[in-house]
Amino acid sequence: MPPDSLFPAALHWTILASSLIISLAALACVVVLLRRRAPAQPLAAPLLDPAPALREGEKNGRSPDEAFMQWSPEMLRQILANELPDTELIVVSNREPYVHEHGEDGIELKVPASGLVSALEPITRTCAGTWIAHGGGSADRETVDRNGHIMVPPDAPAYTLRRVWLSEEEYKGYYLGFANEGLWPLCHIAFTRPIFRAADWECYQAVNRKFAEAVVEEAKTKRPIVLVQDYHFALLPRLIRERLPEAIIITFWHIPWPNSEVFSVCPWREQILDGMLGSSILGFHIQLHCNNFVESVDRFLESRVDREGAAISYGGQTTLVHSYPISIEWPEAEERVQTAAEARRKVLERYGLPPGVKLAVGVERLDYTKGILDRFHALDEFFHQHSDWIGRLVFLQIAAPSRGTLPAYQALHQECLDLVAEINERYGRDGYQPIVLLPEHHDHTDLSELFRAADLCVVSSLHDGMNLVAKEFVAARDDEAGVLVLSAFAGASRELLEALIVNPFDPSGMGEAFFQALTMPPDEQAMRMRRLREVVRSNNVYRWAGSMLMDAARLRQREQFRDLGTSSAPWAATRPPEDNVVRLRA
Ligand code: G6P
Repeated sequence: MPPDSLFPAALHWTILASSLIISLAALACVVVLLRRRAPAQPLAAPLLDPAPALREGEKNGRSPDEAFMQWSPEMLRQILANELPDTELIVVSNREPYVHEHGEDGIELKVPASGLVSALEPITRTCAGTWIAHGGGSADRETVDRNGHIMVPPDAPAYTLRRVWLSEEEYKGYYLGFANEGLWPLCHIAFTRPIFRAADWECYQAVNRKFAEAVVEEAKTKRPIVLVQDYHFALLPRLIRERLPEAIIITFWHIPWPNSEVFSVCPWREQILDGMLGSSILGFHIQLHCNNFVESVDRFLESRVDREGAAISYGGQTTLVHSYPISIEWPEAEERVQTAAEARRKVLERYGLPPGVKLAVGVERLDYTKGILDRFHALDEFFHQHSDWIGRLVFLQIAAPSRGTLPAYQALHQECLDLVAEINERYGRDGYQPIVLLPEHHDHTDLSELFRAADLCVVSSLHDGMNLVAKEFVAARDDEAGVLVLSAFAGASRELLEALIVNPFDPSGMGEAFFQALTMPPDEQAMRMRRLREVVRSNNVYRWAGSMLMDAARLRQREQFRDLGTSSAPWAATRPPEDNVVRLRA
């Protein structure tokens, strides 16, 4: 046989073998994933009737935590090694995972309060990739080499952080302006008007170009997998595609995507869609956001939309649009050094709270999308309806400062202070304040203690891509106690069906959910919490990343088939789009 026909044969067998491995991995996952499927639930259902799923957990007598296979760092490593051998992984985000700041005792290392960072950090560690991000810390320049590189985490270096420097003007126009006064309110529809300035758009374009340059500089091969993160980089996929045409570009949009009517107000809507369609795979948390995106493309670009295959063909290239619900790293048992009772005692003591009170907690960045004012209004309603609870419930709200130079955030801060003062004045008395507002950042250990001390955790976002606080609360409750009150408009409500699902725009309904939570019998709390824990544990952050990487591996395979001339349908998607279960079966 001539050598040039031997090569395709060998490649053919390699592809067949690797398909078999993917299929086996997928089959194992399907068994697990099938178990977590649950039908969509109407908004108020959990308030009326404990979901039938609650009873499911009790059936087999085995701890649900044992019954579920776990996606792990090892599985991710295997997917990379077996399905994408020798592939380099590059992550791009605005927020860096480690910030160096000048402090009173010299240079301090900080981990920012960001769901994106907490989700991607374990993945990049596992894959030993390169993470490119804006170096925004006051001591960031002093801690890198001359190429802007530093190995992180500092105490156990596992991957390279490449810092990109921005001028004050770039930062203001790109981050504060276009990303956070334009795209953020546009996508969240929290009734804060987006502001679009041509000068901000200029900066946004320039900074996206700067990051594209950094990706090209960092790429050691022609075919890296580039994970582009979030609304700061809508133009980056196209810019990378132009420079590295063979790269697999997976863009994940961490915030909601609005319907096409809302999106249409953006003056640069076509350019944004064009930029994003440079991606090979475009991910959102939930199917609704995928649908909204596809609808926007259909309306504003000359493209071919394959709804069944969840793919968009545009400018000679195909982009798959799929949902990948983000999650957290399931905590190790050793992380819980104290019992829930000890945590509660410490928290009550730390904040000077009376021993017998019930504790509600809220934890977020001080952001108008989070519905912080709305939960305080609900608390007001609750006390109004159930006055016997005055003096017996304290709401502890952590509100980490965020984007504090923007007027909308400053106004929210003031409104929060005023409303808290008003409610505390109305219901407070000697030694009792119903709301404790802590406008400061807390680290992971403090938050875990707080979650374990709480009787209920309130996540009342007006709109949220996913919301990882809801999942962190559930993960912290190995005592299977505590109740999650969760907004129907957070992506997490699609998975956490045993929470009390509320409408944050309805203070009286949310107040009644507080009452239901506070009076819920311990066995119902345990049934709900057990099921919630099963879901979060099995749908962990490694599954989020693993699903995207497996899809990337399928794309690579298709490219190989195409190169062999055996692909019958280059247009076909990697998998049917219905949900993760079906997708992984493909
Ligand atoms: C949201 C965004 C993330 C961002 C985080 C914190 O979760 O999706 O991209 O990191 O908010 O916001 P910040 O502006 O502080 O990075």
